[in-house]
Amino acid sequence: MSDEKSFHMTPDEFRRHGHAVVDWIADYHSRIESFPVLSQVKPGEIRASLPANAPAKGQPFDALLRDVEKLILPGITHWQSPNFFAYFPSNGSGPGILGDLLSSGLGVQGMLWSTSPACTELETHVLDWLVPMLGLPEKFLSSNSGGGVIQDTASSAALCALLAARERATNYASNQKGCDGRIVAYASSHTHSSLEKAAMIAGIGVSNLRLIDVDENFAMRPDALARQIDADKRAGLVPCFVCATVGTTSSNAMDPVAAIAEICRQHNLWLHVDAAMSGTAALCPEFRHLQDGVEFADSYCFNPHKWMFTTFDCDCFWVADRKALIRTLSILPEYLRNQATESGAVIDYRDWQIQLGRRFRALKLWFVIRHYGVEGLQYHIRRHVELAQQFADWVRNGSRFELAAPVPLNLICFRHKGGDAANQTIMERLNGSGDLFLTHTKLNGKFTLRLCVGQTKTEARHVEKAWKRICEEAEKL
Ligand SMILES: Cc1ncc(COP(=O)(O)O)c(C=O)c1O
Repeated sequence: MSDEKSFHMTPDEFRRHGHAVVDWIADYHSRIESFPVLSQVKPGEIRASLPANAPAKGQPFDALLRDVEKLILPGITHWQSPNFFAYFPSNGSGPGILGDLLSSGLGVQGMLWSTSPACTELETHVLDWLVPMLGLPEKFLSSNSGGGVIQDTASSAALCALLAARERATNYASNQKGCDGRIVAYASSHTHSSLEKAAMIAGIGVSNLRLIDVDENFAMRPDALARQIDADKRAGLVPCFVCATVGTTSSNAMDPVAAIAEICRQHNLWLHVDAAMSGTAALCPEFRHLQDGVEFADSYCFNPHKWMFTTFDCDCFWVADRKALIRTLSILPEYLRNQATESGAVIDYRDWQIQLGRRFRALKLWFVIRHYGVEGLQYHIRRHVELAQQFADWVRNGSRFELAAPVPLNLICFRHKGGDAANQTIMERLNGSGDLFLTHTKLNGKFTLRLCVGQTKTEARHVEKAWKRICEEAEKL
């Protein structure tokens, strides 16, 4: 056996190649501004450059890294570029990347407390840290009735919240018998599409997810919500859940959480607050008023992988009553039984999520928080908001463009006064130039440009250049 080739990478080879990979990543970040932000390849181009079949014999690692440079990089849209202003960001940082690397190195699968106690306990602890960091209610602490868990994405968090709401409203009968078509949920017409998907998966049905009208600022209208709930109750339906969004995807609108919470209280509905990107702003006390009323929420989520420098994926999800969530999602087959679980003294996070297995995501979040400290995180969030407000001022004070929505934080929705075709042309030319990347939405039926300032390394010069390039393209129309 000892004479046989093992095929494995030896520890020394791993060390050597690992150093090369870390060097490559560091160099990539130093030269990231030299690449077109939006990948310029055509559909199929990357696949056409790859061999048709897998190699029969293993290849040297150096060749792999060379191929990343040559074959893969052209097909990368550079989300970590400081000139990335599209969608909402998915930013990252050195400590986030290294925490993720360590998580891979440990290779832990933390489905149960006993399958790696540190994986569970660090997660509980860091999510407890975040409660006062974000000014969230104490009921979300694991030492109280609630607790936090890391989900992959805000979509999964919304699905878990909706399932728990459904079960609570049916006295835990729909898990057994399925839905009878009478359960209804509510969100605004500007709520993220993940809520629609959650309604499909939870068996509630898309037509039983009521999309409530928004006001002139694209925020949910509580009066319209109250009217719809009354109508549904009169029709013999069973309202169970409302999602309020703090920072909608389309325009960063802020649903009035306190007014919505009061309606939920009157009707005993589960209130989920989706603060996927904008929740990070709550690190700074001066922005917390945007989510006034969060103290009444049954659940809350935000994505450190969007705006809090934590490498994708990482969504933090809290519930006020962990028993409701666990009762909804817990199943204990014989092969997972163990003493720690039976003792009731531990958290088994498999009961707090859809899938069974789970990565050690808390490590990267812990690294990010410890590296930056609250002070460092606040510094960068304030800076991004300042830069976005500066951009909004340029739009306001110029003659060619107008703001299309309020700018509470770091997203500017604006449009050229020349109409849809002009805006689309500007966006396509900018994105085609590779100088920056921004995306669009439709507000009041009009094509609207969106520019979100949230990339880790975005500084004043990048935002200034973006505005200059936008004006140049407008000039050329
Ligand atoms: C408000 C809001 N909710 C949910 C999501 C879905 O995010 P995820 O990719 O984490 O599921 C997004 C994505 O941008 C979002 O903006």
